[in-house]
Amino acid sequence: MTNATDQHHLGSTTHWWETAVVYQVYVRSFADANGDGIGDLAGITSRLPYLADLGVDALWLTPCFPSPQHDHGYDVADYFDIEPAYGDLAIFDTMVSRAREHGIRILMDVVPNHCSWDHEWFKAALAAAPGSPERERFYFRDGRGADGSEPPNNWQAVFGGPAWHRVVDADGTPGQWYLQTFTPQQPDWNWGCADVVDYFDRMITFWFDRGVDGFRVDAVAVLGKAPGLPDAPPVPDDVRPTDRALRNPHTHFRPEGHDVWRRWRKLVDGYSAEHPGREVFTIAEAYTPRQPEVLLQFQNHEEFHQVFAFDFMLAPWNVHDLRESIDATVRALSPEGLVPAWTLNNHDAQRAVTRYGRADAHDPASWTGNNLVYTDAPIDLDLGARRARAIAMILLALPGSAYLYQGEELGLPEVLDIPAEARQDPIFFRTNGAEIGRDGCRVPLPWTTAEDGAHGFSPIGSAAPWMPQPSAWGQYAADAQDGVDGSMLELYRRAISVRRRHGDLRGGALRWIAVEHPTLLAFERGEITVLLNVGSDPVELSGIVDGTTRVVVASDPETSSASVLPPDTAIWLARTDPT
Ligand code: BGC
Repeated sequence: MTNATDQHHLGSTTHWWETAVVYQVYVRSFADANGDGIGDLAGITSRLPYLADLGVDALWLTPCFPSPQHDHGYDVADYFDIEPAYGDLAIFDTMVSRAREHGIRILMDVVPNHCSWDHEWFKAALAAAPGSPERERFYFRDGRGADGSEPPNNWQAVFGGPAWHRVVDADGTPGQWYLQTFTPQQPDWNWGCADVVDYFDRMITFWFDRGVDGFRVDAVAVLGKAPGLPDAPPVPDDVRPTDRALRNPHTHFRPEGHDVWRRWRKLVDGYSAEHPGREVFTIAEAYTPRQPEVLLQFQNHEEFHQVFAFDFMLAPWNVHDLRESIDATVRALSPEGLVPAWTLNNHDAQRAVTRYGRADAHDPASWTGNNLVYTDAPIDLDLGARRARAIAMILLALPGSAYLYQGEELGLPEVLDIPAEARQDPIFFRTNGAEIGRDGCRVPLPWTTAEDGAHGFSPIGSAAPWMPQPSAWGQYAADAQDGVDGSMLELYRRAISVRRRHGDLRGGALRWIAVEHPTLLAFERGEITVLLNVGSDPVELSGIVDGTTRVVVASDPETSSASVLPPDTAIWLARTDPT
């Protein structure tokens, strides 16, 4: 192989989660066993053979705790139970043990910044007086102005509008305000209160004791508020609603949050130490765009085991940005012996097929902001699917763990034309429709080509699914792709299986290959060579790879030789076929 440069080693890859393929289950939309049109835990259990065939090591379940579902579970009313629409603790236990029989671990999603306004402690706080211990668990403050009718400060909520909500006292008069970083239905916890700290300690241990092997930790960047809750600097009027709050330095990346994460790391590692055979861990959600130093503030040996490496997901379709998004992350983490967690999709982001199908997908200017970026550019879904196939092969060849989001293995696009009356995302409502929000990546999965039971999402004859499926949804169904050469599903199965079997793709170094080609991304993992052509012209590979290598996996089913790489295509090459 020619000119390998910039070798990046991982730390010791001895922990299961460091190389795992994790599959995110958006519980409402995965599979509905009881026919109410809402996904549930029995549905997940029934689909474990499919997940085992796909080859995943673990499932991350989006919050499945009791919740009034104002933010689909990210408003938790009780951290110690299961949402009745999804099942109960007995069904949860069955799911965990069946999953284990398939060699699949279960991760849960913990929401520490806020709860639901239906949480018992919040209801008790509303019933209690200002200054009471019940109110101390949250951020209650008097309003400003002579009659207290102005919010306590000028902070904006992430999902639009002010970050404060005024309560109505028992006698019907307006009372204090409480802080809600996202929506009024999600009051922020006060982590300065010992009750809150203790509550979450108990919660984490409770689920570990039930067999859960880790937690995805929600919205860690906003936990911790500046003392005194001072006004935020003004933000220009033209900043999008959901970006306004992200500019507030008094609620973002605050030092105060880190005390909590250090405490949790001791708790989590202590659990593994006390339970031989168990290796539990945490992965945090923090968008740290192109700031590896901020990533390291969360992912380190005293706080989170991993943080999503979102720069890769947010990189435009060009070699410079893709390479930089990978390189900066690996360069930051590897000297510390830390391992990245890569992803291309999640329940908050526009699906990859649609994102990469945009006419301006290559242009960094169209990828500014966070993951909720929507542009008016024309979208070519065939091109997007071709690129999504190619980038999935990069995801699965990178050193570290890979997080998939349900439906990406089926090549689902974002559903952009959900009628306003069917939308449910609070972002849509709280921005008065200025931002369409995230419903389009949360549409219930199509399992069967046949339409009955919402394409197999529910049993035949069930209630309509909670979110309508588009008319052509059956073309993406799992049964239409199962065993079909060249389908997206078979590509994922093949790539995951090669990754599983090939030690070079699980551990070891990433070495960039020095190629002077403007559309070619090229690296090696041990004896596997990984190539991606992001351009619209084919790339001649002579002089880049030698003649003895063979195509092990190709994102374009027509590509069987290592001589020319077609446009928007990725290949894995090796001298021997690992399977
Ligand atoms: C989750 C979102 C959720 C928000 C508030 C996020 O970062 O991923 O789905 O709406 O936190 O909990």
